[in-house]
Amino acid sequence: MSARHLYVHLPFCASRCGYCDFVTVVGQEGRHAAYVEALLAELALERTALAPRLESVFLGGGTPTLTEPAELARLLRALPTAEEVTVEANPETVTPELAALLRDSGVTRVSLGAQSFQPRLLEVLERRARPEDVRRAFAVLREAGFDNLSLDLIYGIPGQCRCDLDADLSEALALEPEHISAYELEAKPGTRFTHAHGEELARQAEAMELYFERVVERLTHAGYRWYETANFCRSSAGRDLRSRHNLAYWRGRDYLGLGVGAVSTIAGRRWRTTPRLGRYLTALRAGERPERELEELPLPVRSSERVLLGLRLDEPLSLAGLGDAVDAAAVERLERLGLVARGPGEDELALTERGRFLGGGVTTELLA
Ligand SMILES: C[S@@+](CC[C@H](N)C(=O)[O-])C[C@H]1O[C@@H](n2cnc3c(N)ncnc32)[C@H](O)[C@@H]1O
Ligand code: SF4
Repeated sequence: MSARHLYVHLPFCASRCGYCDFVTVVGQEGRHAAYVEALLAELALERTALAPRLESVFLGGGTPTLTEPAELARLLRALPTAEEVTVEANPETVTPELAALLRDSGVTRVSLGAQSFQPRLLEVLERRARPEDVRRAFAVLREAGFDNLSLDLIYGIPGQCRCDLDADLSEALALEPEHISAYELEAKPGTRFTHAHGEELARQAEAMELYFERVVERLTHAGYRWYETANFCRSSAGRDLRSRHNLAYWRGRDYLGLGVGAVSTIAGRRWRTTPRLGRYLTALRAGERPERELEELPLPVRSSERVLLGLRLDEPLSLAGLGDAVDAAAVERLERLGLVARGPGEDELALTERGRFLGGGVTTELLA
């Protein structure tokens, strides 16, 4: 079995945002070239895990667009081509030169981390970009010819009121991105953010259901398709603007991840590469695979994951081949409550709109 989806992790960031627990490296600009070299060595070692033709490549971070431009270009040119090539960009890093570099290197889609348009909320998040950076970055990317742009928003930021959320949604919609991801702020254990704001986040937890409903209402009303719990795309004749890369995760497809802390799932096994930059570089310099944590995924685990992830989508999930993962009595009960619907095909199941608002709670009840 070979993967048709490739994730590449670029960990470098200019500073660390308090809420973030992704694998990031602050500073260490001098190591960009060595890191790209290591990524290419890792790609050569893992190449046989990839299908001859890829559907998606995703460069995520960290801040991929902080990478030294010549190194970023070298990396992009050496990666296999794919129908969708996405790069995550932080707004303050986007210049006309960077946008041209991305376009000339085969990137088809850029995902811009806006998070909010309210200066005081961006400060709470410890973001570097100001609202005007987001608007400017967006215009620069459009000017360079990108016709598939995504914006990331976060809601549930300490101090955010409902009018802030509405203002953020209006600002995002005014830019007319093809895709919007709107995530509820997660208090990651151990981050200094959770330490500083944990109590307030707990206090406002109840309001989050209303915020979520508001996000869905505003974006669907503006014509966006709510195709995954936190993801929306513009409906466009003849163009499917869902993220092909993320769809692959939600549909349980295999993917290969390269870089520090990257996760791969292939043929029933999942592994996570060491998050330690030094060890990663040393291993690949010696032509060896970096350390990894390996997890076997037995069929029942894979089936439960398929249910948990598949039901986040607005398309029916086929239960064929998922064995006893779903509890038949729970399906009947939740169907009577109007939270799940069977069909349209045989053995297919989806959450209803009400079920989707309740999300994970319904899905967990479905699992046998
Ligand atoms: C890992 S970040 C990398 C992208 C880029 N460096 C940035 O900051 O925009 C990818 C996205 O995950 C989301 N994210 C990160 N930490 C989060 C958290 N604690 N809760 C909710 N969303 C989060 C943000 O919307 C962010 O744009
Ligand atoms: S820029 Fe993005 S990846 Fe880097 S610390 Fe901030 S949220 Fe995390």
